[in-house]
Formats: sequence, structure tokens, C-alpha cells
Amino acid sequence: MKISIIGCGNIIIKEHIPAIISLGIKVCALCDLSIENINKAKNLLHYDVPSFLYYKELVYIIKPNIVLIALPHNIYCEVLSFCSQFPMRIIKEKPFALTLLESKIFSDFSRSRSFKIFTVCQKRYTLAYEILKHEVQRINEKISYLKIRYTIPSNNPNKDWRRQYATSGGGVWFDMGYHIVDIINYLFDGKEIKVNYARLINSSCHYYNVDDIAFVEFECDGAIILAYISCVAIEKYEDVTMYGQNTIFHANKNHITLKNKKQEILKYIKVENTSPFVKMYQEFLCNGGEAAFERNLSRSISLMRVLEEASKKSNFCKK
Ligand SMILES: NC(=O)c1ccc[n+]([C@@H]2O[C@H](COP(=O)([O-])OP(=O)(O)OC[C@H]3O[C@@H](n4cnc5c(N)ncnc54)[C@H](O)[C@@H]3O)[C@@H](O)[C@H]2O)c1
Repeated sequence: MKISIIGCGNIIIKEHIPAIISLGIKVCALCDLSIENINKAKNLLHYDVPSFLYYKELVYIIKPNIVLIALPHNIYCEVLSFCSQFPMRIIKEKPFALTLLESKIFSDFSRSRSFKIFTVCQKRYTLAYEILKHEVQRINEKISYLKIRYTIPSNNPNKDWRRQYATSGGGVWFDMGYHIVDIINYLFDGKEIKVNYARLINSSCHYYNVDDIAFVEFECDGAIILAYISCVAIEKYEDVTMYGQNTIFHANKNHITLKNKKQEILKYIKVENTSPFVKMYQEFLCNGGEAAFERNLSRSISLMRVLEEASKKSNFCKK
């Protein structure tokens, strides 16, 4: 497999290129408006790769089959509209689209036979969440409540294009909440997710016009789910707690703990912290046919529906 990359920012340098290298996938072209970022990507690759400042030039000259795209959220529409004129497989970073309306445009692109979009949302491939799901199925108790936290103590929250609704489409709810809704979708096998309550907060008031804290209550398969998301938290948390009749299940990327309601440990599993990006690409390589694109597409549209429903319910003031 050979891949061309449009947008060589943070996530490409930190996660995608290391995953791509570890799987022996070849990068055949790079594009970014910033030469500095192209050079960061080149330094990781250790082989000569043609590079472009303008994505159209990359497409015309390289004629790529597979393109990985990771850009500020408001630029995807322009780039995908152009790329959709060519036979291509796209792996694009989340979120699928800025709005539900844009989702419709992208899904129409992706339903043509020669153009397909796969949206990256890798946290469902976290080994600890796979084991958690397996343990919940093994114990086979009705889950009545789930708590999910995703908080980061950012030293520059909502910086650059993330500062404005117009370029980001939203703050932490849209950016980090996308992962949360996908994890719920994974744990509950794609069952319908209802939004009971949503509150998005901008604690900065002036520096950016998007939310930096979100509390959302969902309901799925009879369970109440509480999500707490923040990029201005005092500590980093990324974990899931699930409550069955007799068992409490807890997972973060390093371990899974099962306790009974007397707080006695029933099981403790230490997990090797492998990259979920590597697992995502492995699955894509083994199982990346039409059906995988179709599954990813319908999941992406479902996630967008939930995200938009919560945004509407929160009545967040975008000024
Ligand atoms: N899956 C994850 O866990 C995860 C984590 C972080 C970011 N992301 C997603 O990845 C995407 C990028 O985020 P990031 O944090 O890497 O942002 P970033 O700002 O670090 O990178 C964006 C890059 O795009 C380049 N760029 C902007 N306009 C361009 C254009 N017209 N042509 C070519 N290059 C252009 C910028 O120069 C920059 O290098 C977003 O969709 C974001 O939501 C996903």
C-alpha cells in the first residue's frame, strides 16, 4: 500500500507516520502549506518523498490511489470536493464533517464507486476497551450506568484554527466528543444513542468562541451514560466505568479492573499500551474493502447526528 498525505500537522507527525512506518506502508507524497511541517514529516520517513505546497498539484502530478488527509475542519469540504473528481480512496481524520448538512455532501461523494471516504476515529481500537467489552459480555450483567471521562490539561487550549467556530465547527464537544460517541457506539454495538441533556461551556469567555468543557447525558440500550469532556482540566483522564447489577467495570488504556459492589477486586488486567492507530491501519489493510468503507460511512453519519443533537440541546452561545 502507498499513501499520499495532505496536511502534515500534529496528528500526522505524532501518530499516523509512526504507525505507517511500523507497518511498512510507503508514503509517496506529502503536502502542507508549511514547509516546516513537511520537513518534520520528511525527517521521520528517512527516504526521499516528493512534497507539495498545494494539494491540487499533488493530485495532478502523483495521481494517488490512497490519500490520508488531516486538516483544519473547515478545509475538508474544499479538498474532498476536488479529490472526488478522481478515482481515490480517502482516509480522513475525524470529524466526518462540520455539520449534518456537510455529512450529506460527503456521503454522496463516498457513494460513487471510484471514490470512498474512511474517517479516522481510532480510540475504539484501544486494546483496553476491547478487553472491557469482552469482560462485560463474559459477565453478562445488564449495564444500567456508564461514566466516560476524556479530559486534558492543555497548556494552550483551543489554539489556532480551533479557536473559532467558523474554522473548527465546535470546541471540545465536537473535537473530543466525537471519540466519546464513537466509543459508546463501539461498546453498545451501534445501538441507537439518545441525548437526554447537554451542557457545553466556554470557561474562557473571550479568548476563543467555542466550548472547552462539555457534560452530556445519553441513553443507550437502557443504560444512562454520563460524559465529561474538557481541554482545561487540571488532570488528564481517559477512562470508562460501567455499572452492572453486581459488578463495576473500569478501564483506561493501561488496565481493566472488575470489582464487586463491596469494592473487592474480582479481576485486574494490565494492558500493554499499543497504538490504536496501528490497530486501525492493520484492520484497514486486512479488511479495507467496500464493506469497511460503507460501515465506516454509516457510523460516521450516526455520530454526526448525535453530536449535532447534543449541540442543539445545549443552546451553546457561539458569540
Ligand atoms: N484522531 C485523533 O485522535 C486526532 C487527534 C488530533 C487531531 N485530529 C484531527 O486531525 C486533523 C488535524 O488536526 P491537527 O491537530 O493535526 O492540526 P494541525 O493544525 O496541527 O495540522 C493541520 C495541518 O494542515 C496544514 N494545512 C492547513 N491548510 C492547508 C491546506 N490548504 N493545504 C495543505 N495543508 C494545509 C497546516 O499547515 C497544518 O500543518 C483534524 O481533523 C483533527 O480533528 C485527530
